[in-house]
Amino acid sequence: MTSSPTLLTDPFLQLPTESSVRVVWFTEFKGTHHTVRYGKGLAQSVQASTTQLYRTREDADSNLANPPTRLTPRPIWRHEAEVPDLAAGKRLPYQVASTREDGAIATSKPFTLAPKPSPGQALKVLLTSDHQLKPMVAANLQKVAETAGRLDLVLLAGDLVNIPDRASEWFDDANGGAFFPALQGRASYELEKDGVKTRYTGAEILQHTPMYTAIGNHEVMGRYSDTQSLNSQYADAVPRAVAESVYLAKKPFLNPTGDPQLQADWIKNQSFNTDTYEAILSLPTSPTGGKQYYAVTFGDIRLIVLYVTNVWRTPSLAPDARGKYREREQDLNTPENWGYGQHIFEAIAKGSKQYTWLEQELNSPAFQQAKYKIVMFHHPPHSLGENSVPAYTDPIQIIDRDASGAITAIRYEYPQQKDYILRDLVPLLEKAGVQLVFYGHSHLWNRFISPSGMHFLESSNVGNSYGGYLGATKRNVPTTYQEAYPATDNPGGLQPVVPAIAPLLDANGQPQPYIASNDITVFSLFDTGTGTISSYYFDTRKPNSPVVKFDEFRLK
Ligand SMILES: [Fe+2]
Repeated sequence: MTSSPTLLTDPFLQLPTESSVRVVWFTEFKGTHHTVRYGKGLAQSVQASTTQLYRTREDADSNLANPPTRLTPRPIWRHEAEVPDLAAGKRLPYQVASTREDGAIATSKPFTLAPKPSPGQALKVLLTSDHQLKPMVAANLQKVAETAGRLDLVLLAGDLVNIPDRASEWFDDANGGAFFPALQGRASYELEKDGVKTRYTGAEILQHTPMYTAIGNHEVMGRYSDTQSLNSQYADAVPRAVAESVYLAKKPFLNPTGDPQLQADWIKNQSFNTDTYEAILSLPTSPTGGKQYYAVTFGDIRLIVLYVTNVWRTPSLAPDARGKYREREQDLNTPENWGYGQHIFEAIAKGSKQYTWLEQELNSPAFQQAKYKIVMFHHPPHSLGENSVPAYTDPIQIIDRDASGAITAIRYEYPQQKDYILRDLVPLLEKAGVQLVFYGHSHLWNRFISPSGMHFLESSNVGNSYGGYLGATKRNVPTTYQEAYPATDNPGGLQPVVPAIAPLLDANGQPQPYIASNDITVFSLFDTGTGTISSYYFDTRKPNSPVVKFDEFRLK
């Protein structure tokens, strides 16, 4: 007997407009029809259109009960329907149903949907990032829901999963804490602290609440392969220019007719891509950036989302490290194996396509007249975390040779004065009157204020932390390089703001201006009614303890 069908995710809300919202869900069967029923008595209905995710795969590293021994495509179907003719401020029930080829039907529970809120409506917005299936995520989201109740919007500043082409990281990782389960209250993640095990479900958020996301380094897959492991493909991103030069050399064989689509696909496959991320999510678009960078109005918020992230590489200087600062010794004479340091995926330097689009967006009436002007991207402008070093700039490759001309080392330098975020982006945002820059990447909580009053918030100590570097705690930075790479403090220059309400204390009993903990998880909520951003922590070592509001500031 065939088992009854199930949905791979609950439905979730995407791309709301003033009068509609998209409902999206996934199944592991193509099915014959997929329907959203909605409204009073679920009497109205709309059919979904179905596409197959074409890059989702599993391999021996997948955390499944029975992972495949080798790289294997995993067929998953995505269903999307636009629910039309909605009235502002009115929430309706909805439910989805997927009919399998044998006629058996899988149905979701009923949830609620709404179009975009009207200006002036007080909204509750979750500011989160860097989930990556980390241990405290399900606990964090559960506490978010207990604290805030129904959210109106989720803003996620990148790093949704670890390896975007691994399907189980989105849907059904065996530890019970995959991306959708945690944000849909279907997680089952057992967190053990001091010998006590607590099981967290996450929270039923995305079923009722739309989400806008930014691309982090973990949304980007590297060079595509049908055979290499997903982890190695993820780590194998090279700059577009490298793929382009290989393409030009091989063009007569690869593309004798000069088909432009074939050329674009080949270069993307041989450098890096965000295909699975873009296939899973329906997001606003910009003419030059597509889903990768965009601007959108939601209630009183004008939100600009940028594609500001680079590949992450190890700071290690060991001979076998394909790192931030050097190539592996064994690769010195094999450029096809070089990692090219922490290269940037999409330019943001002054004059770049993205920067030029941003200038126009900042000058638009939609932005200028907005009550709240918020910019979200992944890489930190100001941070005490590990990832604020080295500078956010194109790596400068230095090839050392001996007297015979043989390569002895390949190093990368990152001049601080060429940091594109600090040199080009931040002054532009400041001049335009941006009130909040929200970002992630270093897995800690810290905030800063510029002299003119622009707020910077990194709220990424959600699932785990990689530490904060202030005082005696030192980042792993090279000391024998041309540039001086800061081992402590914020290289961006601003001093961190000590939390306004209840800072944690450091080892000397002094208030600590950050939270970087693998026991304490943090979330931030923006209330557009009062303009305040409140941050809360929850100590997972004390499962029955209340959350603590430890910081609050107001956007002006
Ligand atoms: Fe990141």
